[in-house]
This record gives sequence, structure tokens and C-alpha cells, in this order.
Amino acid sequence: MRGDTTFPFILSLFVIFITQTIATNYPINVWPKPTTFNWPNPKSIFLSPNFTISHPTHRYLTPTVYRYRRLILSEHYRHIITPSINLTSSTPLQHLIISVSDVTSPLSHGVNESYSLSTPNGSSAAYITAGTVWGAMRGLETFSQLVYGNPTRVAAGVYISDLPIFTHRGVMLDTSRNFYGVDDLLRLIKAMSMNKLNVFHWHITDSHSFPLVVPSEPELAGKGAYGNEMMYSPADVEKIVEFGMEHGVRVLPEIDMPAHTGSWAEAYPEIITCANMFWWPAGNSPALAAEPGTGQLNPLIPKTYEVVKNVIHDTIAMFPDSLFHGGADEINSACWNTDPSIQTFVASNGTQSQLLEMFINNTLPEILSLNRTVVYWEDVILSANVKVDPSLLSPQHVIMQTWNNGPSNTKQLVTSGYRVIVSSADYYYLDCGHGSFVGNDSRYDQPPGTDQGNGGSWCGPFKTWETIYNYDITYGLTDKEAQLVIGGEVALWSEQADSTVMDSRIWPRASAMAETLWSGNCDETGMKRYAEATDRLTEWRYRMVARGIGAEPIQPLWCVKNSGMCNTVHPFTS
Ligand SMILES: *[C@@H]1O[C@H](CO)[C@@H](O)[C@H](O)[C@H]1NC(C)=O
Ligand SMILES: *[C@@H]1O[C@H](CO)[C@@H](O)[C@H](O)[C@H]1NC(C)=O
Ligand SMILES: *[C@@H]1O[C@H](CO)[C@@H](O)[C@H](O)[C@H]1NC(C)=O
Ligand SMILES: *[C@@H]1O[C@H](CO)[C@@H](O)[C@H](O)[C@H]1NC(C)=O
Ligand SMILES: *[C@@H]1O[C@H](CO)[C@@H](O)[C@H](O)[C@H]1NC(C)=O
Ligand SMILES: *[C@@H]1O[C@H](CO)[C@@H](O)[C@H](O)[C@H]1NC(C)=O
Ligand SMILES: *[C@@H]1O[C@H](CO)[C@@H](O)[C@H](O)[C@H]1NC(C)=O
Ligand SMILES: *[C@@H]1O[C@H](CO)[C@@H](O)[C@H](O)[C@H]1NC(C)=O
Repeated sequence: MRGDTTFPFILSLFVIFITQTIATNYPINVWPKPTTFNWPNPKSIFLSPNFTISHPTHRYLTPTVYRYRRLILSEHYRHIITPSINLTSSTPLQHLIISVSDVTSPLSHGVNESYSLSTPNGSSAAYITAGTVWGAMRGLETFSQLVYGNPTRVAAGVYISDLPIFTHRGVMLDTSRNFYGVDDLLRLIKAMSMNKLNVFHWHITDSHSFPLVVPSEPELAGKGAYGNEMMYSPADVEKIVEFGMEHGVRVLPEIDMPAHTGSWAEAYPEIITCANMFWWPAGNSPALAAEPGTGQLNPLIPKTYEVVKNVIHDTIAMFPDSLFHGGADEINSACWNTDPSIQTFVASNGTQSQLLEMFINNTLPEILSLNRTVVYWEDVILSANVKVDPSLLSPQHVIMQTWNNGPSNTKQLVTSGYRVIVSSADYYYLDCGHGSFVGNDSRYDQPPGTDQGNGGSWCGPFKTWETIYNYDITYGLTDKEAQLVIGGEVALWSEQADSTVMDSRIWPRASAMAETLWSGNCDETGMKRYAEATDRLTEWRYRMVARGIGAEPIQPLWCVKNSGMCNTVHPFTS
């Protein structure tokens, strides 16, 4: 009897599978996948060479529209597999009409990014309707991805209604350990907007170099940058911030302190403890920093606050975003302990946590007085050694960014009432898996067959796009707790990255997060959709490359040309 029932059962599974595939994958797709994408009768329509876009006049939307019109008319994208879609018989598409109900909403955290888009079957116009100009920008990107070929065609009869699940969708880039030119940062922002990412978290300074020109403290970059040509002037910053506005991308500056400040010592040795010391002396002494590049601000010295306040003021003056990132990660006790004034403080029963508290007490009110919400790395309250009492950091004014212990720290932070940005090192760190960078590493000199460090960085292995795509940043949270998770950021720490590899380290893995945070990683039935996403991501990666973004391949080209043939059908069980 068994044989009799199995066949229809498998057949019906097969039918379900086929209909699902049809339901989720179209001949032309948009990345990140829109929340709803209806295209009941796939057809295409020629785009008129006279194609026009009408739109409300707006300081940032107007240049965006010009840019997209140019792209739409000149891109002529050729899909890896030519979409098999018939042309409609109607006259070419002449107009895209954009309407925005509220043109005054500024680009800020939580701004309404929803839009709807329809392309005509017949001879009428295409429409984008959005709540804000920022939503209209998302709609323009979607429209541009529906355009292809030469002569240019557009997917016809499409209706899309779209909005993101998470409001904060970012990329963090460290420009201290290695330098990136302004053009690189602009290209990053451009690629982010293609992926509907909306926050460039700029980790500007660290122990290694201080590339930001702070007008009231010119010596910081003057002496702390890697060189005169490796600095960001206020004019550079303005260019980057404005470019971000024209791409719907906010720029969130981070000045990491009080640790990670060795580079400040070039200008002000007196305010930095353990500056320029060998990071981990032989013998039993503890390391003075998590990696080579030592130095921490000394919270006991008044001069420290003079300099820090100038830096805060000038940075906030340059960056209009309502969020300011104050760092506060990885405070190293041994580094502070090298300083005689701190030794005296500790000898009279002061604790290092009190030192951090002093630093926070003297700097947080300053930032808040400038009308900013502060983001700190989670260490400020979760570090094992040096941390402050959460009662000093009001959840109303402070957002926590988590990077350790995956879902467990996220849970701990939201249950303490904080809004959280997730950048778990186990999932979202793009630098992992490129080996360690310290020299004289004897792990690499072991006989063949023994562990040679496995080429692992501290956070190895490499985070694949699937690892990133499948991570649920609200895993294990109640619905109410999940509401405090405002979004996530992939992070590229730059010990082993600079402009030469930036694109390929970030893309298309950041695209994987972009889709998960925009519309999720599951299909209509609630199943994870990574299998279905593979071909779409490959196609999207090729399109990004054609647009000048050096995204790395995720599969042999053969796999898309032979759809499904590279998949495994053997489930892995743990
Ligand atoms: C484009 O506009 C020009 C001038 O208005 C007109 O002569 C031409 O027919 C138009 N072409 C199309 C394809 O609509
Ligand atoms: C295109 O049109 C032809 C002729 O009407 C039809 O046979 C074919 O199935 C259509 N192809 C698609 C993909 O709709
Ligand atoms: C966002 O804008 C859309 C229009 O695109 C509107 O329907 C929706 O209610 C707005 N959402 C919120 C939360 O205001
Ligand atoms: C296009 O035509 C189909 C039916 O052929 C209809 O269901 C769909 O709503 C139309 N789409 C638009 C955008 O007019
Ligand atoms: C403070 O920031 C909020 C939002 O970020 C803004 O609405 C408000 O106008 C600002 N207030 C001042 C005094 O600048
Ligand atoms: C530090 O604490 C110890 C034990 O609590 C106490 O005996 C000592 O007097 C304290 N020293 C100072 C300088 O406060
Ligand atoms: C920091 O400020 C809080 C609240 O005002 C206060 O209770 C605490 O004593 C201060 N800590 C230090 C080390 O100054
Ligand atoms: C390399 O490490 C060894 C210990 O493993 C040490 O004796 C030696 O001095 C180091 N060499 C350099 C150049 O730092």
C-alpha cells in the first residue's frame, strides 16, 4: 500500500513547489525583493527615448530624478538569461509620474520610506506614489531595476506596494585602520542606495589614524592622520553628507572614545594613556589593547574634556543626522593602569568603571545638549570589567549597538529597555576570515597537518552571504521586545581592507542583509527563501558590477545559466 500513496504525495509536493517558484521568482526581479510584487501577466513595453519623469521639486529629489532618468535611458542592462517576455503592442512608455504626499519630511531615523509603483499594460503612464521624497527615491530604484535591454524595455503590468520591515539598515566602515578616499565613500553610498540601505555608519577615528579635520582641533588630523592626502576636510564631509541626502542615505558619524584613541596622542600625548606602547609585551603582562595600536583617553585630566568637547561640537556641526555614535567599546584596564594618576586613583579604592562613568558623565550631557541621540557599543554596559550602570544611560537618549554573543546580547539589551542596532560579529562582520594580521605569528609555522591557525581571524570563519541572509536579528525575542530592534548593520573593520578590496568585501554580502532587513528572508509560506534568492542575488550582483560596483561573484556563472543545477537537495542536519 505504501507504494500507492507515496507517488501522489510526491506529485502534490512537486506541484506546490512549482507554483511557489512561479509565485516568488519572475523573469525580472528587484533586489531587495519588494514586500508585494504583483505581475499577473508578464509583458514588457518599450521605453520612449523621450521618456520623462514628473516629480515635485525638491532639493534632493530633483537631482535624484535626473540621475535615475540618465541611468534608465543609458543602462541597457542585459540579463544573464534574456527574460522571456513578450512585448505589449502599445506605444512606448512616455511618462513616470511621481507624487509625494509630504515633501517636507526630513531624512531622519524612522522616516516613511513606503511607496507604491505601477507600470502600465497599455499606453498610460507609470506611477510612483510615496509618503515622502525618501520613499519616492526607493520607488525610483525599484523602477530602474524593471528597465532592461537595448532598445530599452520596462516590465509592464507590474504593481508593487513596498515598505521596509526595519527602519535602520546600515553599513559600518572603519576609515582609521586604513584610509579610503572620498570617491570610495561616495561609491559606497551609491551602492547602498541601490540596495535600499539607508545609514552609512562612518567609524571615522580609532587608535591607528585620525583622518577627520576638526576645525577647532586641527592638530588631531594634522598629526594623527596617515598623511596630508589621507584626511577628510569639512568640505569633504559636506560633499559626502549631501551625496548621502541625494541617495536617501544618512551619514552617522562615530568618534570612538575613550578607548581606541591612540591616534589622538600624536597631537595631545598628555591626554592619552599607554600611547604607542608595544601592544602585548612578552611574559605575563596583559595586552594593552585588543590589537596593535594602543591608547585611551585619560578621564582624570581636564584637558581631555577640553579636546573631546571640541571634537564633539565640530563633528556634530558637520553631520546633521540626529544620531551621534560615541563608541565606548573595548576599554582596556591594563592600558589605564599604566598611568600614574590612574594608579593613584585606583589605590584610593577608585574603580576603572568609575573612570568610565566619569567620562560618560562629562561627555554624554554635552552630546545631548546638541540635540543628538547617542549610540554606544554595548560594551558600555555589558563589558565584563569596565562598564557603567545602565541607570546613567537613559533609553530615551541612548541606543545600543550589539556585536557580541549573537541573539543573547540583543535580548539582554532590549530587556533593559534599549533600542538596539544589531551587528553581531558572528553574522554581520565582513572582515572575518581573512587571517590574523599580527606579524611573527608562529601558528603559521607548524608542520603540515597541524593546526596553522586555520587562517582564522578572531571572528573567523568568513561570513558567507547565506550566513548573513539567514540571520534573524530578532531571534528569541517577544513581539514587544522585537519592536526595540531598530535594525542592523554589516561592519567592515579595515585592518585588512582599503579601497582596493572595499567593494568585494562589502558586496554582495551587504545586499543579503539589505533584503532580509527590507522584506525578510522567508517566502509567503514562512519558509526561508535562500534557495530562491541565490539566482536573484547572482543576477543582482552582475547588475551592480555593470553599474560600477566591484561586487564579488557568489557562484560560477554556469549556475545561473543552468538554474537549479548547482543546488544541493540533501538537507544538512545538525
Ligand atoms: C520624441 O519627441 C520628438 C520631439 O518632441 C518627436 O518628434 C518624436 O516622435 C518623439 N519620439 C517618440 C518615440 O515618442
Ligand atoms: C509570446 O507570444 C507568443 C505568441 O502569441 C506565445 O506563443 C508565447 O507563449 C508568448 N510567450 C510568453 C512568454 O508569454
Ligand atoms: C507612509 O506613507 C504611506 C503613503 O506612501 C501612507 O499610506 C502610510 O500611512 C504612511 N505610514 C505612516 C506610518 O505614516
Ligand atoms: C494589467 O492587466 C492585468 C490583466 O491582464 C490586470 O490584472 C492588471 O491589473 C493590469 N495591471 C495594470 C498595472 O494595469
Ligand atoms: C532636535 O531634534 C529633533 C529631531 O531630531 C528635531 O525635530 C528638533 O527640531 C531639534 N530641535 C532643535 C532645537 O534643534
Ligand atoms: C580602601 O578600602 C579598604 C577596604 O575596604 C579600606 O580598608 C581602606 O581604608 C580604603 N582605602 C582608602 C584610601 O580609601
Ligand atoms: C555620574 O553621574 C551620576 C548621576 O548624576 C552620579 O550619580 C554619579 O555619582 C556620577 N559619577 C561620577 C563618577 O562622577
Ligand atoms: C617572534 O616571536 C618570538 C617568540 O615566539 C620572539 O622570541 C621573537 O623575538 C619575535 N620576533 C620578532 C621580530 O618580534
